[in-house]
Amino acid sequence: MSKLAEVEVVLSHSERLPVVDVWLIIDILRATTVMTSWFEAGGGDLYPSESVEEALNLAASLKKDGQTPVLMGERNAIAPEGFDLGNSPLDITRDLVSRHSCAVMATTNGTKALLKAASTGRPVFAACARNAFAALNTALSRGSRIGIFCSGRKGRPAWDDTLCAGLFISRLKDYFPETRCSDSARLALLAWRGASENALPGNASVSVASVESSRFEYSVRTADHAVFLKKIGFGDDIAFASRVDATDVVPELHEQPEGDGMRAVMRPSHGEAHAILQKDLLDSPAVIKPRAAPLEGKLSDNQDGSYVFFAGKEYEKWHGNKRGPDER
Ligand code: MLT
Repeated sequence: MSKLAEVEVVLSHSERLPVVDVWLIIDILRATTVMTSWFEAGGGDLYPSESVEEALNLAASLKKDGQTPVLMGERNAIAPEGFDLGNSPLDITRDLVSRHSCAVMATTNGTKALLKAASTGRPVFAACARNAFAALNTALSRGSRIGIFCSGRKGRPAWDDTLCAGLFISRLKDYFPETRCSDSARLALLAWRGASENALPGNASVSVASVESSRFEYSVRTADHAVFLKKIGFGDDIAFASRVDATDVVPELHEQPEGDGMRAVMRPSHGEAHAILQKDLLDSPAVIKPRAAPLEGKLSDNQDGSYVFFAGKEYEKWHGNKRGPDER
């Protein structure tokens, strides 16, 4: 297929939105990862809400209608008062899903970004590292001007979401080298390409996809929000959210009439239905490209799990001749 794709990237939900054919909303830590996990586990309708108050009211009204909603989400990464769950994808089990007919969700950035994209009237899908390939295929089946909407963090760009957008764009360019990128799309692409070159090399006997996954997680762990999540005990969410292409489930936003307005609701679509990109490239053995002349220096892992790269002799200055983590 010689479709020329064009990619726009929005780096946080505070930005003005460009005109595109289709939106992929990314909040890998953790809103779109949670949404994807909900449908992976067989979940019913999921209602994204703008605020905690709106979510509480909607859950109460659904219960009055005989529904059994699970109320989930976060403020500062933990469950708000009155919610059944926080926002950890590891809490989304088949047992949980079997006990609830639907879900209501309110998060700091992810659900806001989703609802903002919904207001454009274009198709909107929840994307993350776990459904990367399927989400990209689904978007390509709906148009050639693709908007990748990074939810960001508190109205500012987030490394984890930007990195994931870069992974999407890098794959798109692997298949469609002429893909046109906006400035912000180029920034995201550079973020991923730079990070994946300096991350630990993958083991050449495994596939491209698994090398991508390990490099992706390595870099995601350095994100502000990842460091914060690890600090408050959600470190396992990061590994889970960083598993690239773990599922074909792609949540899609629909609008249903409610009173004299419309209500946003997420339902699953399945990426394999739109096989525009073929997975052969990703399943092929990884050819670990020689990195650009590797920076002289060493990685130092801090107590909070973040990493600092010391170029040249800086490392000795800071740490004497302590062995770096890659020298153990
Ligand atoms: C967000 O909306 O930014 C995330 O849901 C935050 C989180 O889950 O910690």
